[in-house]
Amino acid sequence: MSRSSFFIEFIKKPRSIGSITPSSDALALGFCEAIRPYLNDKKNIIEIGGGTGTITRRLADLGKHLTVIEPNPALAQKIAAKYPKVQVVNSTIQAAIGQHISEKLLQDAVFISSLPMVSLPKKETAEIKKALFYLLKKSKDSVLFQFTYRLGNPIPFRQSTISAKRVGLVLRNIPPAHIWKYRMEHVNT
Ligand SMILES: C[S@@+](CC[C@H](N)C(=O)[O-])C[C@H]1O[C@@H](n2cnc3c(N)ncnc32)[C@H](O)[C@@H]1O
Repeated sequence: MSRSSFFIEFIKKPRSIGSITPSSDALALGFCEAIRPYLNDKKNIIEIGGGTGTITRRLADLGKHLTVIEPNPALAQKIAAKYPKVQVVNSTIQAAIGQHISEKLLQDAVFISSLPMVSLPKKETAEIKKALFYLLKKSKDSVLFQFTYRLGNPIPFRQSTISAKRVGLVLRNIPPAHIWKYRMEHVNT
């Protein structure tokens, strides 16, 4: 998808898209570098908020089963057309859990998120945090990566069982982006 079509989607739903320009290839490569150490142990990658597919393109090269969650129908359709081997779910992450993504897939996945946590309405952010916590507690070695344009932690989980760490800074992105990693430290079952 071109920058101009992305911009049109931004005009229609600014808070949900959260950025006027797609992520850069440098950010996609930054995500790939961050997740690489976890790929030996996981069969699947789940990308949340696929947008234009700039990150999808690099994730698809990693040789894992890739699922992309994208609620915007125009963006989801473009990703599906461009990457026929990728499983595209046209839904929010909150709705996708339990409906479109199997438990088995979730338990064996690394999660990458481009969710616009800062611009979304508070109520939706709270629902998303709940959904992300659900994903992280699926297995004791679950890991989630999220980028943000701000300095602080973009997903401040209240649960002390989740660790949050800034693991990268990508300068070749507009604006420059920080990559954060979230892990479930203890699972009380
Ligand atoms: C910053 S944009 C996408 C960035 C993407 N990496 C790109 O380069 O195009 C954020 C994306 O998250 C999607 N999104 C918003 N709310 C969501 C939700 N609740 N679940 C999943 N995706 C969501 C938007 O539709 C949008 O495509």
